Amino acid sequence: MPTPLIIDTDPGVDDAVALLLALASPEVEVRAVTTVFGNVPLPVTTANAARLLALAGRDDVPLAAGADRPLVHPQRERAESWHGADGLGGLAAGLPEPAAGPDPRGAVGLMADVLRAAPEPVTVVPIGPLTNVALLLAVHPELTARIGRIVAMGGSLGAGNTTGAAEFNVFSDPEAAHRVFTQAEVPVTLVPLDLTMRCLADRRWLADLAASGPRCAQLAAMIGHYHDAFRTRYGLDAVALHDALAVLEAVVPGTLRTTGLPLRVACDLGPARGVVVADRRPAAPGPQVHVALDADIPAVLSEILTRLHAWSAPPVSA
Ligand code: BDR
Ligand code: CA
Repeated sequence: MPTPLIIDTDPGVDDAVALLLALASPEVEVRAVTTVFGNVPLPVTTANAARLLALAGRDDVPLAAGADRPLVHPQRERAESWHGADGLGGLAAGLPEPAAGPDPRGAVGLMADVLRAAPEPVTVVPIGPLTNVALLLAVHPELTARIGRIVAMGGSLGAGNTTGAAEFNVFSDPEAAHRVFTQAEVPVTLVPLDLTMRCLADRRWLADLAASGPRCAQLAAMIGHYHDAFRTRYGLDAVALHDALAVLEAVVPGTLRTTGLPLRVACDLGPARGVVVADRRPAAPGPQVHVALDADIPAVLSEILTRLHAWSAPPVSA
């Protein structure tokens, strides 16, 4: 029986890889895709998620739009310089048009309905700011028992990518992230920059993706602008597939090696805003988040590529 999955996303180039990876994985069934502001504004993330579902031929997956801003303090910084103005490297308009518009229930309503209807625990995978998931936990405490785990991409215990020490998804809504990381009802696995920035898809990996059938060729083309940004910003001829690591962990639990740590998020308005603080003292109090700090990195990259290749390749005719 495949594990039911909800993906909460802000596509986003690495979100695109992550979403298609989930749809390519037989161990899970994507029951809903919900969108949040983040890399680009909400109407754009929603349109992109719809087009990516259409690219996968999965217009049947319900899609609903969620928060267009953080819970408490407005945060205007988007990540167009990484993902392009359209969020998908300038190629969003070339994707197939979705058959229908977003679900009128909205992100929290759709997530709640999926949780109520699922006889087995659902894995929730937030790969953008945590606003929708914090709202879900706050509005529907009666449904937390139906969430098997939350596997989120975000945060850093070291260097940031948005401020000196803050990562984009957590910086975009620190209050929401704090709400999710400090609750005890649902187990949380967090995939931070500490690991994702070590897990780099290089030129060879990208060339293999481009040669993996027509749909992967489209995906590889979308990564072009993102690749340029990694070259310019970090001097790297490679890209970090941040969100795809969280999806792989959700699909194959235990793929990433985790350390249990109580986490707090700095929610003041000073230079530490959005910084994740891990309490490494022995017997530190508070619920522990399973922080993914290590993995067999070549195996992770190869697994992502193999799954996308199998999904993209045209079926062999009888
Ligand atoms: C995270 O920020 C976004 O730009 C990416 O899609 C990813 O979710 C990495 O910090
Ligand atoms: Ca994302």
